[in-house]
Amino acid sequence: MLPPMTGAGGRARFPFHPFPTGWYLVAFSRDLRPRAVRTLKLAGEELVLFRSESGRAALLPAHCPHMGAHLGQGGRVRGEALRCPMHGFEFDAQGSCVATGYGTRPPPKCKAQALTVLEQNGLVLAYCDVLGRAPEWQPPEVDMQGFGPLRTHVFAGLPTHPQETTENSVDIGHLGVVHGYEDVRTLEPLRTEGAYLTTRYAFSRRALVPGTPAVRAEFTIHAYGLGYSYVDVDVVSHGLRSRHFVLATPTDGEHVDLHVAACFAGRGKLARVPGALLDRVLGAVMFKGFLSDVIQDVPIWSNKIYVQPPALAQGDGPIGRYRSWARQFQPDALALNTPS
Ligand code: FES
Ligand SMILES: [Fe+2]
Repeated sequence: MLPPMTGAGGRARFPFHPFPTGWYLVAFSRDLRPRAVRTLKLAGEELVLFRSESGRAALLPAHCPHMGAHLGQGGRVRGEALRCPMHGFEFDAQGSCVATGYGTRPPPKCKAQALTVLEQNGLVLAYCDVLGRAPEWQPPEVDMQGFGPLRTHVFAGLPTHPQETTENSVDIGHLGVVHGYEDVRTLEPLRTEGAYLTTRYAFSRRALVPGTPAVRAEFTIHAYGLGYSYVDVDVVSHGLRSRHFVLATPTDGEHVDLHVAACFAGRGKLARVPGALLDRVLGAVMFKGFLSDVIQDVPIWSNKIYVQPPALAQGDGPIGRYRSWARQFQPDALALNTPS
């Protein structure tokens, strides 16, 4: 296993493995057209992501198991397979070699270790387990009825860890100090079930536009592992709803690509307004508001260390319970999916 990430002077910033077991975003669906081939880094490995002609997304190690050419540098999609640029061997979504460039029988040992890919809700997710175990859980598909299109943004190369970015969603204490939320109240205490964690709270915020009412909103957090979460935001004061995906992908052991996405819908009197129309009118402003919250967190995440145990005070969120839940995603945890 890799050593923990270190801060200045070699001090460990995070006392746990850089690559927790779980599902991580590798692309937004709309960025991966049929026949597209992309190179990316996940959990210290260079990988190649491709979409077959029929539309299936697949993820393989970047280097060809035949003789090591880079599949992302000149590899091409042919039908359901990716063709290596060097000798023309072809690999399907499971990593099996289905053809050689010479028309001869593919060698049975020529197999790439394909990662498990799950595509839903406009997200292409890959399962990462450094011990090579098969997935025991997965995030469910979410009903996007009424919502407009996803708006997306990537904060690439943040020097942080998925455990930190996910902890942020239950860190009630920082909501006032960092984001200026007021009157934060817990509506439903943190609850966990296997890899799932949820909690719900309400808060107020001064008007985004002068002369308009203050914002009163309710947040429901849904996290599945440390790399995939979304927040359902019910903006009670303005008749709006939004759904914010927060998807932290650990790349090289020192950095995270933080992918965020949001979509918007009406509620109450505005419930009948099509999400796409609402997005055209308000989407840009609302998405900017969401991004500005994340931008406030970025310098904190990028520089903090992980204090364990933390010196908690009244007013902090359920940090201890979050951390107990998060332990199951350590690759060497005894059992995944243990209900707590
Ligand atoms: S190195 Fe890929 S086909 Fe030979
Ligand atoms: Fe935050």
